[in-house]
Formats: sequence, C-alpha cells, structure tokens
Amino acid sequence: MAEAEVKTAAEGGAAAPEAAEAEAPKKPVDPSFEPEIIVFACHYCAYAAADLAGSMRLQYPSNIRMIKLPCTGKLEVIHLMRAIEAGADGVYAAGCLEGECHYLKGNLWARKRVTKVKELLAEVGLEPERVEMYNMSSAMGAKFAESATEFTERIKQLGPNPVKRPGVSAHAAAREALGDVAMADDGPPPAAPAGEGNQP
Ligand code: FES
Repeated sequence: MAEAEVKTAAEGGAAAPEAAEAEAPKKPVDPSFEPEIIVFACHYCAYAAADLAGSMRLQYPSNIRMIKLPCTGKLEVIHLMRAIEAGADGVYAAGCLEGECHYLKGNLWARKRVTKVKELLAEVGLEPERVEMYNMSSAMGAKFAESATEFTERIKQLGPNPVKRPGVSAHAAAREALGDVAMADDGPPPAAPAGEGNQP
C-alpha cells in the first residue's frame, strides 16, 4: 500500500468514519430515563433467541417488550408507526438471517418497511434511529442480548419520544394494531410455510 494511503487525519489524510463518529458531541443522558422499546420478534428466530439468551443467563435490558409474530414479513409500516405514535421510544423488528426466512422474503420486506418508516420519521421531525431491523438465528442468544443492549443505549442517548402521552401503553397499542397477526406469547407455533411465494 502506498505510504500516502495510510496517513492519519492528523497527518493530513482523510479521517476514518469511526473517528468522525467518535468526535461527534453526545447529548447528556438522563439517568432516570427508562425507554419503552417494542420488539417485533419472529417466532422462528428472535423469539427463540431471546429464550436462549435467558437460558444462558445473558444480561439484557428489561426495557424491551416483545410481540411475537409468525414472520417479520407480517409487519407493515402502519404497525411500526402506530407504536411510535402511541409513544414507544424505540421500535425494532428482529427477523431471521437473510436467506433463512421461513417464508423466503418476509425479512427482506420487513427491512424495506423499516427503511420506509425511517424516512417517514425524518419527514415529521423525529429521529429515524428510533426504528431498526436486526437479523439473527434461533441459536444467536448472544446476538439477541447484544442487539437489545445496543438499541436501548441508542434510545437512551436520543431521549424520550416527544409524542409520548402519559398513561398510553405503546405495547398495547401495537398489539391492537396488529390484531390477529400478533401471536400469544405461549401460543402454538404458526402454520407451516407452504413454499415459494407463500405469504407469511
Ligand atoms: Fe423469521 Fe420470516 S423473518 S420466518
């Protein structure tokens, strides 16, 4: 590699993106702020990964409230927006690894919808970082715990959702918006996927 290519920022080279991020001033975090975070979790992967994290006694924040889905492909833009509108400080979808969705493309659709919601939040003046998509397998208990911890720290940094209203449960509102799509926490597994093109 040419010597010029490895110059540091101090020597006149371009700053690495990580370095630029590290220099960004951070808002002071209110230590009393406990965010309400809704996780739309796929039954096949993230929900099972959460169970595994529990069995492994891995620590993750208690702020997260899970809603189990047969696949993240069931998640529509309106469901994510409803959770934010009802006051969730942060919302994320947790689906199977790309290429491993039991309905083939459900997790890809979910990622597109999350991206759309980020755009909508930015348009109304809310931080797009309040919504996210994570992918994991059922064997990734540690990834589940890391994602929950990372996202909770991010939301603590952002502060409370400015549209939060006292006495409104974002978790209940999100469940209601999902209707029959939301699975009972202790309910039976979803019907087996039936092949290519099957809708979750
Ligand atoms: Fe898990 Fe589709 S995201 S089955």
